[in-house]
Amino acid sequence: MSHILTALTRRRAWKDEVDFFLMWLRRPQRLGAIAPSGRALARAMAEGIDPDAPGTVVELGGGTGSITRAILDAGVARQDLIVVEREAELCKFISKRYPGVRVLCADARDLKSLLTHAGIGPVKAVVSGLPLVAMTRKDCRRILAGAFAVLVPGGEFLQFTYSPVSPVPKKSLAKLELQGGRSQWVFSNLPPAAVWCYRREGEAPRRVA
Ligand SMILES: C[S@@+](CC[C@H](N)C(=O)[O-])C[C@H]1O[C@@H](n2cnc3c(N)ncnc32)[C@H](O)[C@@H]1O
Repeated sequence: MSHILTALTRRRAWKDEVDFFLMWLRRPQRLGAIAPSGRALARAMAEGIDPDAPGTVVELGGGTGSITRAILDAGVARQDLIVVEREAELCKFISKRYPGVRVLCADARDLKSLLTHAGIGPVKAVVSGLPLVAMTRKDCRRILAGAFAVLVPGGEFLQFTYSPVSPVPKKSLAKLELQGGRSQWVFSNLPPAAVWCYRREGEAPRRVA
């Protein structure tokens, strides 16, 4: 039985990669990556979210849902997860695959107003697959400011990157009074990626891992 499940999971992951790649061919700038995150990277992103702590988890840039699945596998209840994704096709894809997860088909740059209007909060963690490095500094700052406007004290913003340096420029961190660091590298991902974790200056992490 377990080998059938493994084979089905692999087939689904392969199909997701093909679908994502076809979308990337049409909209490379908007998607930001050529393939969805691998399982190890998705797991690394979800590590440290405390599923039992009160509050909502917000995922930004859900894509085909590889990180969505890891967040659910980490024990976060479906009703406690909100995914913000800009592409309508991907929103439909995630809604169909993960019924019960709320998907906001919208621009993450409007995060604060989006969550306020939808009456969502408090937010215990923001998990981002957005291509922050490819965005303008202004957009990057706007997204982080929106996230920290809704995050609870000690709440963290998690971001993966293929870059060897912080995906949020130092100047932006200083301006927003945030601190951050790399929590781990995931060398098995293609391409290898690092997980970065940001929180308000002077706050201790609320991590469980
Ligand atoms: C690099 S892909 C990551 C997808 C998925 N999280 C993963 O790890 O495989 C980036 C995703 O962010 C979405 N995205 C890019 N800019 C966005 C924005 N401003 N607001 C919401 N989603 C955005 C893209 O449509 C794409 O699905």
